[in-house]
Amino acid sequence: MSILFQREQGLLTLLTDHTAYQMQIGPEGYLLHTYYGRACAEDFRYLHLERDCGFSPNPYALSASRGFSLDTMPQEYSGSNGADFRLPCILSESDDGVLGVDLRYVRHEIRKGAFPLKGLPAAFAGEDGEAETLSVLLRDAATGLETELLYGVFPHRDVITRAARIRNGGEKTVRLRKAASACLDLPFGTWDCIDFHGRHAMERLPERVPVSNGIRTIASERGYSSHQHNPFVILCDHETNEDQGECCGLMLCYSGNHRTELELDQTGSLRIVSGIGERFFCWTLEPGASFDTPQLLLSFTSDGLGALSRQFHRFIRGNLCRSPWTGRKRPVLLNSWEAAYLTFDEALLLRLAKSAKQLGVELLVLDDGWFGDRDEDNRALGDWTPNLRKLPDGLGGLIRKIKDEGLKFGLWIEPEMVSENSDLYRAHPDWALRVPGRQPAIGRNQMVLDLSRPEIADWLYETVAGLLRENPIDYIKWDMNRAMTDLYSASLPAEHQGELAHRYILGLYSVLARLTEEFPEVLFEGCAGGGGRFDAGMLAFHPQVWCSDNTDPIARLRIQEGTSYGYPASAVGAHVSASPNHQTGRSTPFGTRAAVAMAGTFGYELDPAKLSEEERREVRRQISFFHRVEDLVREGDHYRLGAMEKERFTAWQFVSEDREKSLFTLVLTEPEGNPRPLHVRLKGLDPEKRYRLAETEYAGCLYRGDEKLPEVLSGAALMYGGLTLPRLYGDYPSVQILLKTE
Ligand code: DGJ
Repeated sequence: MSILFQREQGLLTLLTDHTAYQMQIGPEGYLLHTYYGRACAEDFRYLHLERDCGFSPNPYALSASRGFSLDTMPQEYSGSNGADFRLPCILSESDDGVLGVDLRYVRHEIRKGAFPLKGLPAAFAGEDGEAETLSVLLRDAATGLETELLYGVFPHRDVITRAARIRNGGEKTVRLRKAASACLDLPFGTWDCIDFHGRHAMERLPERVPVSNGIRTIASERGYSSHQHNPFVILCDHETNEDQGECCGLMLCYSGNHRTELELDQTGSLRIVSGIGERFFCWTLEPGASFDTPQLLLSFTSDGLGALSRQFHRFIRGNLCRSPWTGRKRPVLLNSWEAAYLTFDEALLLRLAKSAKQLGVELLVLDDGWFGDRDEDNRALGDWTPNLRKLPDGLGGLIRKIKDEGLKFGLWIEPEMVSENSDLYRAHPDWALRVPGRQPAIGRNQMVLDLSRPEIADWLYETVAGLLRENPIDYIKWDMNRAMTDLYSASLPAEHQGELAHRYILGLYSVLARLTEEFPEVLFEGCAGGGGRFDAGMLAFHPQVWCSDNTDPIARLRIQEGTSYGYPASAVGAHVSASPNHQTGRSTPFGTRAAVAMAGTFGYELDPAKLSEEERREVRRQISFFHRVEDLVREGDHYRLGAMEKERFTAWQFVSEDREKSLFTLVLTEPEGNPRPLHVRLKGLDPEKRYRLAETEYAGCLYRGDEKLPEVLSGAALMYGGLTLPRLYGDYPSVQILLKTE
């Protein structure tokens, strides 16, 4: 039983192995939040003393005592236009002019299993089958608007999922201008907020700042979850570090506009409200109609940021990603993009395939440029038939020849987009989003198809399904390369135009659901100009996402480490590319590029013909080494190391669940003159076991080469004493150590 109801006290308590979450059906049916934190089966009502707070009004029926105000009591789901002046979860207007809602408890229900959502990805019970759902129904008397608060409890994951199902139970039409997934009131504590911001080719950089008075917003209104602000935030105590301290993560399972707001109020209480971005949102609910919000994943630990990350990693792998590929070994691939960009023909691709095969690569991915007259990026998106000048025997002929070389075949598509210069656009100019009477903004020479229209979503599904039915394609890279602007759908009635951005995402999810169900054996990799849509919503369909268009391994250290706070390495698309790097111009050792790409799905993005004989030998070694560690990376526990030494190096570790094996990696980013010893303490090992440093790979230079690592050490020694590494020298050297118990 992970959900308890104490009738007399009106308490509902959600219990996971290490956390507890509690709410109270309070006076007059207000649903109050009493606790979220370490597991503890107390009645937490004692924490929330009623007190008279000047200028914080009281509900009519409770006004005599003046002690109870919605403005000061922690709430489960805040209303609006009442006495709670803090962030609302719902902003609504009813046809009779009523603004906002005053939500009161009606009933609740406890069910077995996780809760699904209409048209939106949602977490499932997973292998252990352990999940329970609490549904609490609230109602606003004035409008009849009902809100069913849904809580999924995953006891062994220490995760609670939340969403709201809003139903118009009244007689008038209601317009929702805001419909948040959840609100979390944290009335006590001193908080830092960590968010993951960035830009194209520099995504998910963590920034930790103290929460201060007022409101802070972390949002994307770009139509996609975005490179700029990931829909994931962590709240942690000022004292919390990687290995200890309280922290709580909020991850929105959604790929469109999103908004997480934090308000530190007059009483020192912190409210976080998270859900769909509201700038252009307006959803019309006719009487009887309902609306599901996206799911929010909540996780708490008192064991620091590393433990919180691992909780999210396990949950995403075990309870969110539906692809059968999630737990499977992924093929080592070679992608044609940085090898040839748009300029290639069949002969070049076959040459890539032949040499890739010799090096141990298992899958050749044909990136952009294979269709229509796509010689430049200003045309042909939408014309998904092979360019016969580049591929005279069509896709079928090419795939046959690639498979004859002994490789699997992967294909790039960007099916949500259309070029103005394309047959598709000439045939259906109204399929692109644009405001009548206004020239649309153009991004990377392309426009966005209106996936809110079922006939366009169907076309998209049929187009991709057709490619997959007609050709033995093993892998799809699903790209998306521009933000959404000019919100206007040629088919939505005026009063529903504010639904477009969300309907687009629902259309996208419906296509992805159909495709992944029909083609479960196809490995899908998500992409949006690199990691612009690296979110839990996409990960429900795609087990991996191209992490960034930036393949410079040193830039990738920051990007991948930032990503690792919420998302597992099994989802991180990472490749070895040429040096100097195409995005930054920086030169790095070949082995360092591989060591960094091995913290993800691992592959190559270069022309093997340009490699020296020694580098070709090195590729074979890298691939064979990766095969020995890939299970660890994909399914092991991820530890970030050396937080104090960030200026000098980045280091991390993957540890198998049984703690028998571990891969340690360190990249030196800032060499010093007369350097201090390079020392790092390992984590996650069994202190009692003895670990052999079974394989060590250095990349770049060693200063003298005569400093030796010990051969066998106890887990205790490695974690408490640490390791002092031989002196690394030069530009961006690295070391990888594979440890195995004796
Ligand atoms: C952006 C992707 O992130 C790249 O890897 C590549 O596929 C290009 N698009 C192709 O246009």
